[in-house]
Amino acid sequence: MNFRELPVPALQAAKVDHHSVERFIGGIKNFKVLETPRLIMRVLALSDTPSVHEILGPPEVHKWNYLFRSGFSLEDAHEFVQAYLSGQAQGIALCLLFTDKIKRSVLGEVHAVFDPGILAADIGYSTLADENVRGKGYATEATRAFLQGLCQIGLQHICLTAAPENIASQHVISKLGVPQVEDVSLQVKDVDGCMHARNLYYMGAQEWCAGAQAGLK
Ligand SMILES: CC(C)(COP(=O)(O)OP(=O)(O)OC[C@H]1O[C@@H](n2cnc3c(N)ncnc32)[C@H](O)[C@@H]1OP(=O)(O)O)[C@@H](O)C(=O)NCCC(=O)NCCS
Repeated sequence: MNFRELPVPALQAAKVDHHSVERFIGGIKNFKVLETPRLIMRVLALSDTPSVHEILGPPEVHKWNYLFRSGFSLEDAHEFVQAYLSGQAQGIALCLLFTDKIKRSVLGEVHAVFDPGILAADIGYSTLADENVRGKGYATEATRAFLQGLCQIGLQHICLTAAPENIASQHVISKLGVPQVEDVSLQVKDVDGCMHARNLYYMGAQEWCAGAQAGLK
């Protein structure tokens, strides 16, 4: 995502000082673990490849990811983990796997790609395609904690996208309290060259975090 090209005035006008950028990149590189009431969230390791495949492998899940629309093999899962580990080492991406605190079973993942130059993040998430996992608030709980963690290291801009027909994802974003940018339909190209519409959601991160601390999100 080229954040500067999005039709969001706050992103187009974004200016950040060098110190804040350094602090943010350092925070991403050193990001390790988060805890929520029900979840342990931790940075991916290469040994998590089978879990990532289990989460993102079903067509019902990876069809929303335009990079993997035509399939998501174990090799793709390996590449995904490597790409996020390498992205984290550069301060431009981060993926956390989240597990049930008590049972230790893997439930899902939450990830972000950053433009550290303007402290902006594009956030995504998936949970296991299992009726005992979906609809229990796990994606919302994990993404809320992730955003709070990112705010603490200085994130300034939160962006999310969702396909107009992806109702579950839109529910998550609505529960997080990030508003849709009205009258905007992004077009994203998948690996096969087909274009897909995406709704865009944006909020200033510090404003979001103030609301989250006040219990509004
Ligand atoms: C989107 C996704 C991560 C949500 O995970 P989850 O753990 O079930 O999310 P939550 O339980 O926190 O919230 C989901 C909400 O959507 C609602 N929902 C789910 N499917 C729905 C549907 N078809 N119609 C209406 N509401 C639906 C749930 O009821 C819940 O809302 P509620 O708490 O108000 O009842 C999961 O469905 C998923 O992995 N989908 C495939 C990958 C994906 O779409 N990722 C996002 C790409 S933008």
